[in-house]
Amino acid sequence: MKKVLVTGGTGYIGSHTCVELLASRYEVVIVDNLSNSTRDVVERIERISTSRVTFYEGDVTVEAEVRQLFEAHDFVGVIHFAGYKAVGESVQQPVMYYQNNLVSTMLLAKYCTLFGVNKFVFSSSATVYGDNQVPFHEGLSLLPTTNPYGETKAMSERILTDVANVTPDLGVSILRYFNPVGAHESGEIGEAPNGIPNNLMPFVTQVARGKRDKLMVFGNDYDTVDGTGVRDYIHVVDLAKGHLAALENLTAGVHMYNLGTGKGTSVLELVHAFQEATGVTIPYEIVERRAGDIAECYADVTKAERELGWRAEKGIYEMCRDAWGFESRLGALVVE
Ligand SMILES: NC(=O)c1ccc[n+]([C@@H]2O[C@H](COP(=O)([O-])OP(=O)(O)OC[C@H]3O[C@@H](n4cnc5c(N)ncnc54)[C@H](O)[C@@H]3O)[C@@H](O)[C@H]2O)c1
Repeated sequence: MKKVLVTGGTGYIGSHTCVELLASRYEVVIVDNLSNSTRDVVERIERISTSRVTFYEGDVTVEAEVRQLFEAHDFVGVIHFAGYKAVGESVQQPVMYYQNNLVSTMLLAKYCTLFGVNKFVFSSSATVYGDNQVPFHEGLSLLPTTNPYGETKAMSERILTDVANVTPDLGVSILRYFNPVGAHESGEIGEAPNGIPNNLMPFVTQVARGKRDKLMVFGNDYDTVDGTGVRDYIHVVDLAKGHLAALENLTAGVHMYNLGTGKGTSVLELVHAFQEATGVTIPYEIVERRAGDIAECYADVTKAERELGWRAEKGIYEMCRDAWGFESRLGALVVE
């Protein structure tokens, strides 16, 4: 069986990707320091998949730990999810973000080249496009992002490109995610952010279960369909399948792909879709724009379709239904 190292594999996107890897008969080794996830996710992945994974509680910014993983296993590839992702926090704690997100990428690239592991799939973000003209396509020049988190993604892309340029057999797939939402249909795994959510959907689901009074909508004076911000939401299971497609189609060199649906949805459209999918009313209040937010962000997805044979299949209704399925199950379990 082909063995894959999944860093950050107990996190939101990583856990769903592990499920897809196991379904395609890969052997999965997870390393995660549990800074933003919990150990029970391993059992949840195993329950969905009825297969076992190997789990290491470890930190991929610690060189000795990374070396040990490569010495102990013969990987066909690495999927690197581990990192910090809160935009606001990155502004407050830039060094922590550069340290975690860049050192991890550099060490994994180093050990892939040392051990001849030739497939590297990296979690990047649509944020690297900055305030470009929509739809964003992979050929656009990247614009500066407004925060250290975004810069860590742009810099990681650059580091991996430089490494691939001098490592002839190495294939790097840089996946620029748009807005991952939803959860596994089983309700076993999903997004469970600590503290105040940074993203819209977890905010909506927390309002739905009464954990928060109302949703704050940041601005309704953008030049969009209804004045609220437009994003390209993608179901996390579709996104996870995109990683499998990227891994299986990976050839030497660097390849960038947008993983989105190609369709923009405004904040208010999402709120209405959520109400329709779940029957739960979401009270909201329009407040000031949030610094650094852009009006619209959606993907041109033709490259991934053409080269990976992958496209997102689930719509906004399923994204809302499954996000709520997970949150309401979690709400029933967690006493806050
Ligand atoms: N969720 C999004 O909206 C989004 C969008 C674009 C890109 N991304 C990127 O995708 C990746 C995964 O995101 P996610 O939403 O699943 O985040 P997540 O926080 O749920 O998962 C990341 C996991 O990495 C672990 N981790 C962090 N630093 C580590 C380290 N040094 N060593 C080992 N484990 C470590 C955390 O404990 C967590 O389980 C991240 O790199 C993120 O920046 C996410």
